Amino acid sequence: MIVGVPKEIKNNESRVGMTPAGVFELVKNNHAVYVQSGAGEGSGFFDEDYQQVGATILNTIQEIYAISEMIVKVKEPIAEEYPLVKKGQIVFTYFHFASSEALTKAMINSGATCIAYETVEDEDGTLPLLTPMSEVAGRMAIQQGAKYLEKPKKGRGVLLGGVPGVAPGKVLVLGAGTVGIQAAKMAAGLGAHVTILDVNMKRLRYVNDVMPSHVVTEFSNEFNIRKHIKTHDLIIGGVLIKGAKAPKLISEEMLSDMRPGTVIVDVAVDQGGCIETTKPTTHEDPTYIINDVVHYCVANMPGAVPYTSTVALTNVTLPYVLKLANMGWRSACNLDKSLSKGLNIVEGEIVYKEITEAFNLEPVLV
Ligand SMILES: NC(=O)c1ccc[n+]([C@@H]2O[C@H](COP(=O)([O-])OP(=O)(O)OC[C@H]3O[C@@H](n4cnc5c(N)ncnc54)[C@H](O)[C@@H]3O)[C@@H](O)[C@H]2O)c1
Repeated sequence: MIVGVPKEIKNNESRVGMTPAGVFELVKNNHAVYVQSGAGEGSGFFDEDYQQVGATILNTIQEIYAISEMIVKVKEPIAEEYPLVKKGQIVFTYFHFASSEALTKAMINSGATCIAYETVEDEDGTLPLLTPMSEVAGRMAIQQGAKYLEKPKKGRGVLLGGVPGVAPGKVLVLGAGTVGIQAAKMAAGLGAHVTILDVNMKRLRYVNDVMPSHVVTEFSNEFNIRKHIKTHDLIIGGVLIKGAKAPKLISEEMLSDMRPGTVIVDVAVDQGGCIETTKPTTHEDPTYIINDVVHYCVANMPGAVPYTSTVALTNVTLPYVLKLANMGWRSACNLDKSLSKGLNIVEGEIVYKEITEAFNLEPVLV
């Protein structure tokens, strides 16, 4: 198959859909890979790195779309790319169709087959192509939180690990899912005292089994949250109710119970956030202050560490890319039920229920 890797043109997106390791595997399997010049630069991969493993470099995005049977990228195509997507082409990337009718219509009109990373789903209901980004965001939440706890950043002036003779900082983690566990692990590694809350006892049992004793689990309810926000320096929002807006666990009124300089990192901002005062921010201007509480609410945290994020993402996408290239989408999806859940639009027809519901359209069965 002819596989194309365009440069991402969405604002502030430095990740790339394939690393040289991916090109190496595809070429080994007798596929041809075309990479747009400069596509990997933001993630630290240069044209020569791709050429060395057998990719052909093309100068323009138009050439990449024109020649490729399958496009592998990171973000959904943006308006400039809509006319480039062609009939019969496979596009494998994050789409988030339900949030954009314009994108959905453009992809229907293109006649392409769109396989969305975010809906590829394992038998146990987990989303294997979203997990790595939650892992990145969870770990980063502590790195960012520690920075904003510094006095010049308007934080309390607390060093998370403490020093001999001074107690460590306290981190409250809301949600013991992927984000929450990774955040707890990083905070514990720095020597902070960690309290992690969830409503799922299985998750709390797991955390209790695997974490050191300075990571304490408690059931998530308003009473416990109200108690802990008074004494914790850094609060991480990592809750998710699948397919729904995040529950608001901390109201605006509760901010007055926090000490001045407390830092909130609401990772769940992309689902509306679990703090009432959360509003999305960007890497250029990541924080704002309400009631002396620093809020960090960047909606695409992994974008700040494109090298790690690209490698983490492509590690999990590559096995699917290989299946699609080796077998074509029909056989690959027939054989792999997880991958078949990624089918959102097939040759111009929506096949994913949630998208049809979002736009009141009729689904088509494949
Ligand atoms: N900002 C970013 O850049 C970024 C990056 C990756 C993920 N995210 C977001 O982070 C959020 C968490 O993702 P995840 O992968 O960890 O999800 P997950 O499903 O692995 O974990 C969510 C956890 O929240 C728990 N939960 C639900 N209701 C709760 C409540 N009332 N109190 C406490 N816990 C509760 C669930 O039981 C679950 O354990 C999602 O909204 C995700 O989209 C944001």
